[in-house]
Amino acid sequence: GNGAAKAGKSRNIIEKLEESDKNCVVFYGSQTGTAEDYASRLAKEGHSRFGLNTMVADLEDYDYDNLDKFPEDKLAVFVLATYGEGEPTDNAVEFYEFMGSEDITFSEGGTMDDKPLSNLKYVAFGLGNNTYEHYNSMVRNVDKYLTKLGATRLGAAGEGDDGAGTMEEDFLAWKEPMWADVCEKMGLEEREAVYEPVFEITERDDLTAEDDVVYLGEPNKHHLEGSQKGPFNANNPYIAPIVESSELFTTPDRNCLHMEISIEDSNLSYTTGDHIAIWPTNAGKEVDRFLNVLGLDDKRHNVIAVKGLDPTAKVPFPSPTTFDAIARYHMEICAPVSRQLVSTIAQFAPDEEIKAELVKLGSEKDYFHTQVADRNLNLAQLLEISSKGEPWSKIPFSLMIEGLLKIQPRYYSISSSSYVQKDKISITAVVESAEKPGAPHILKGVTTNYLLALKQKQHGEPNPDPHGLNYAIHGPRNKYDGIHVPVHVRHSNFKLPSDPSKPIIMVGPGTGVAPFRGFLQERAAQAKAGQNVGKTVLFFGCRRRTEDYLYQHEWDKYKEALGDNFVLHTAFSREGPTKVYVQHLMEGYGEEINKLLEQKAYFYVCGDAANMAREVNTLLGKIISKYRNVSETKGEEIVKAMRASNQYQEDVWS
Ligand code: FAD
Ligand code: 2AM
Repeated sequence: GNGAAKAGKSRNIIEKLEESDKNCVVFYGSQTGTAEDYASRLAKEGHSRFGLNTMVADLEDYDYDNLDKFPEDKLAVFVLATYGEGEPTDNAVEFYEFMGSEDITFSEGGTMDDKPLSNLKYVAFGLGNNTYEHYNSMVRNVDKYLTKLGATRLGAAGEGDDGAGTMEEDFLAWKEPMWADVCEKMGLEEREAVYEPVFEITERDDLTAEDDVVYLGEPNKHHLEGSQKGPFNANNPYIAPIVESSELFTTPDRNCLHMEISIEDSNLSYTTGDHIAIWPTNAGKEVDRFLNVLGLDDKRHNVIAVKGLDPTAKVPFPSPTTFDAIARYHMEICAPVSRQLVSTIAQFAPDEEIKAELVKLGSEKDYFHTQVADRNLNLAQLLEISSKGEPWSKIPFSLMIEGLLKIQPRYYSISSSSYVQKDKISITAVVESAEKPGAPHILKGVTTNYLLALKQKQHGEPNPDPHGLNYAIHGPRNKYDGIHVPVHVRHSNFKLPSDPSKPIIMVGPGTGVAPFRGFLQERAAQAKAGQNVGKTVLFFGCRRRTEDYLYQHEWDKYKEALGDNFVLHTAFSREGPTKVYVQHLMEGYGEEINKLLEQKAYFYVCGDAANMAREVNTLLGKIISKYRNVSETKGEEIVKAMRASNQYQEDVWS
C-alpha cells in the first residue's frame, strides 16, 4: 500500500504516536468497513472511558519493521477481519506477509529468536465467518506471530462470527473484560464517560448547494470537477452507464435483475469470474426519515464543512457538503442499529422517559433483541418510534458520523465472460425485500432496490416504486441520471482453467449461477471458435421451473455450441412434496463426479455460504470416500487438498 506515501505522510507509527501525543493506536484490517468501524469505536471508548490518547490507523498506511521500538507504556490494538478463504483484507496484505515471514527482521536488526517485540503490549479482535474454512485465521495467526516475537497480549483475543450473525454481540462481550485487563495492567481507571465529538460541523453560510465547490454526493475532487479520471477503484468509482436492464423473474416477494454495465469508456477491465462493486444510494424515504427525526429537515440543503477535531480523525466523505448528501450517499442509515449506539444516544433523548427507555435498550441484551434487532429497526426508525415523533434535535451530528458505518459498495459476481464481451459487465441480482411478522417496516435491500428503481426508470414503467422508496434518480449533479451507477471491479481468484479442454463441474443454485453464466458464455464461444472444450457440468437449483429458473433459454444456446459436453442438472426445490436441492442431485451423479475429478476437473461452488456451500463441500468428501474406497476423513482431506491446489474454488456470500 502507498496510501500515506502518496499523501506525503510519514509511515512511521512510532513517530506519529510521539508527535500527536498518543499512547494507544488501534490498527485495522478491514474490507467492508466493519473492522474499521469497530476500530473507531474502540479508539473513542478508550479515550472517553479510560483516558487513553487514542488514534486509529489503517494497516496499509504504516511500516511495521519498527514495531520493535514500540514504547513500553503504550498499547496497540489490532482489529482484523478475515476475508474469503482465510485471506487478509486488501489493506492488511503487506502487514500479514511481513509478520508471518520466516526471516523477519526489524529496524534494530532483531530476528525472531531475539524476541524483538518484547516491548509491545497489545490486544486483538478478529472478524470472521464460521461458514468459511479458515475461520478468523487473520487474528489467530497474527496473535501467534506476535506472541512468538515476544509481544504481550493484555487480555483474551476476541473473535466475532458473522456466520452466526453474532458479530456485534461477540464484539461487545469481548471488549468489557478486555478493557478491565488493560486497565489493570496499564494502571488506568475508568472515568465517567462524557461525549466528546470527534468532528466539528460548521455551517457555511457563504455557500449554497448550487456552488460548484460543494459536494452533493461526489466521491472525490475529480468527480466534483466533472472529470472522471482513472484509475478507478474503491476510492474512485467509475460512473458507468447501464446499457440494458431486465427482470429475469418477478414474483410478489422477489425479483431478479439482469443488468449490462458498460465499462467501454473507462480504463476498467475484468476477467471472467471477477466481481463488480456497486455503490448504492439510500432510498429517499429513509433519508427523509433520518433528517426529520434529527430535526434537520429544514437545514437539509444547507452547506456544512466537516473536519476532524483531532488530526488523526478521518472524515469519511468530502466536504463542504450538505446533510442531505451525507445521509443519501455516504452513511449506512438503513443498516440495523447497534446496541452500543443506542446506549450512547440515550443521553441526548428529548426527555427523561425516552432516555430511560434507551438506557434499558442499550444495557439489556435480550430486551434489545426483541424490541429492536428482531424488528429490523434502523436508527431513524428506532428514534422515530421511541420519541413518538418528537425530533431528537440534541444529538450532535458528529455522533451520527461516528456511530454509523460509512456506505459500502456491494459486490456482485460478474455473470458475463470477458472473452465474449470485454467492455460490458453483466450482473444477476436478486432484489431483497423481506417482510417480517411483527416488524413495522418491510425490509428493503439498499442496493438491489436502488438498481430496481433504475431499471424501472430506464424502462419508463407505469407504476414504478410501489413501496414509495423514492430513490433520487438524478444523483450528484445529474450524473446518476437513472442510467448510470458508480462501480469498480474487484479481481477474484475464481477462475476457469486456462486450458479449456479441462473438464469443469459447477454448483450454483439461485443467483449462485451468476459466474457460471459467464463461464458458459466463454466456453460456448471457445467451442464456436473451434477450440477443444472439455466436459462442462452445471448443477442449478431454484424453487420452481416456472418461477425462478434463471437464464432458462440461454442454456439451450450453450447446449447448441457445446453439444453433449454441456450437461445441466436442475433441482426444483418446491415442485414436489419434498425439497430437492443441488446436493441431492449430486449424490445421484457421484460416480461421474468422482471420475471427472480424477481427470482433474475443476470444481466450483457459488452462492449461499451459510448452508449450501458447506453441505456441498461435505457431500463431495463423501462422494470421494465412497467411489475411491477411502475413509470419510480421507475424503475430507482430499477435498481440502483440492482447495489448496485451487482445483476446488468457492465464490460464496451470506
Ligand atoms: P442490504 O441493504 O445490504 O441488506 C442486506 C441484508 O441485510 C438484506 O437481506 C436485508 O434484509 C438485511 N437488512 C437490511 N437492513 C436491515 C435491518 N435494518 N435490520 C436487519 N436486517 C437488515 N448478490 C446477488 O444477488 N448476485 C450476485 O451475483 C452476488 N454476488 C456476490 C458476490 C460476493 C463476493 C458477495 C460478498 C456478495 C454477493 N452478492 C450477490 C450479495 C450482494 O453483495 C448484496 O449483499 C445483496 O445484493 C444485498 O444488498 P442490498 O444492498 O440490496 O441489501
Ligand atoms: P428453498 O428456498 O425451496 O428451500 C435457490 O435459492 C435455491 O436454493 C432454492 O431452490 C432453495 O430452496 C435452494 N436452497 C435452499 N437452501 C439450500 C441448501 N442448504 N442447499 C442447497 N440448496 C438450497
